[in-house]
Amino acid sequence: MRGEKMNESIRKDFPFLKRKIRGKPIIYFDNTASTQKPQVMIDALKDFYENHYANIHRGIYTLSQEASEMYEKAHDKVAKFIGARGREEIIFTRNTTESLNLVAHSLNLKKGDEVIITEMEHHSNMIPWMMLKDKGVKLKFLEVDKNGEIVLDKLPSLITKNTKVISCVHMSNFLGTINPVEKIGKIAKENGIIFVVDGAQSVPHMPINVKKINCDFLAFSAHKMCGPTGIGVLYGKKEILENMKPFLGGGDMINEVDYEGYTTHTLPWKFEAGTANIADGYAFGVAIDYLSKIGMDNIWKHEQKLTKFVLEKLMQMKNVEIYGPLDWKKRGGLVSFNVKGMEAHDVAGILDNRANICVRSGHHCAMPMHKKLGVNGSVRASFYLYNTEKEIEVFIKHLNEIVNVFG
Ligand code: ALA
Repeated sequence: MRGEKMNESIRKDFPFLKRKIRGKPIIYFDNTASTQKPQVMIDALKDFYENHYANIHRGIYTLSQEASEMYEKAHDKVAKFIGARGREEIIFTRNTTESLNLVAHSLNLKKGDEVIITEMEHHSNMIPWMMLKDKGVKLKFLEVDKNGEIVLDKLPSLITKNTKVISCVHMSNFLGTINPVEKIGKIAKENGIIFVVDGAQSVPHMPINVKKINCDFLAFSAHKMCGPTGIGVLYGKKEILENMKPFLGGGDMINEVDYEGYTTHTLPWKFEAGTANIADGYAFGVAIDYLSKIGMDNIWKHEQKLTKFVLEKLMQMKNVEIYGPLDWKKRGGLVSFNVKGMEAHDVAGILDNRANICVRSGHHCAMPMHKKLGVNGSVRASFYLYNTEKEIEVFIKHLNEIVNVFG
């Protein structure tokens, strides 16, 4: 199925599209923050609680064994989805933020070690590394130029013999820029540096293969890809995970315990302490099945089309400042902008009030990059598989009116 037809049938899968506010449908353009849910995922969650629920890895009775298997299989689905070797490389966390905290904490970096990130990171890929400053770990930033692209040529000059980690966002949640992670991964590999990719905005939208992007770790969240909240993923190379210390201690992550100490469970359970988010983990697997059936290539092509469409319209508007690359081929399905002379929250509030257009306004958890551009915040419209050109036309119509009246 292609084009408009595919889009129509996809929209039928999402019950939120039937909802009306103030008598009008919702135009949901806040997909970078979180996406809406297909009926099949919602049904799976209900079915799990109604028919299969029990704690996992603790009961020898059939129901518990069944729940364990369903939860574990979701790891296999994620592994296949990103080209990992198997479930031992897939750790379920709460979200991207927790995944990145896990890496930063458990790599056991020491005084004098250095970490490189880019200036466009959102807080989740910045604060965990900043927190290591207390241990004497030095943080360096790769520059972002005025077009919203990283200055890759400057990366080699930041690398020293003490550089242990390069951590980089794949697609910026503010600028929309897609970073050349394959190239960065190659440079990291050549220098024996661990390469972490924040895939929160790329994994939900385009085909990803961890081998292709040369990463050692990849973090992303289920709720940004049609899955439930409270489930995130940390992919890690088996050899590295085996040598890392656990992040949290408690039930399920142990092998043996006595009064002297403990030994750890096999991967990935070594990193999943306590009762897991069982039902959401299972339902995430169903969301992955849903996206895979549509095809990540198709989703990506659809979003590129929408990005091109919206950029062309926005670029024609006076008094609108767009952030990030103006070439749609260099970015993913989101656009951040400001109407000159207006606060971002005011623009977002009017769009909501007039036509239930849901956009995010503010700093989008990327405060340093906004500061670098000299703005407090921006308005961000972000798209997913169920959005349409028609919805963008409504958005542009209202934005034009806002610009004409207030801008
Ligand atoms: N990082 C998420 C966003 O960009 C929360 O909205």
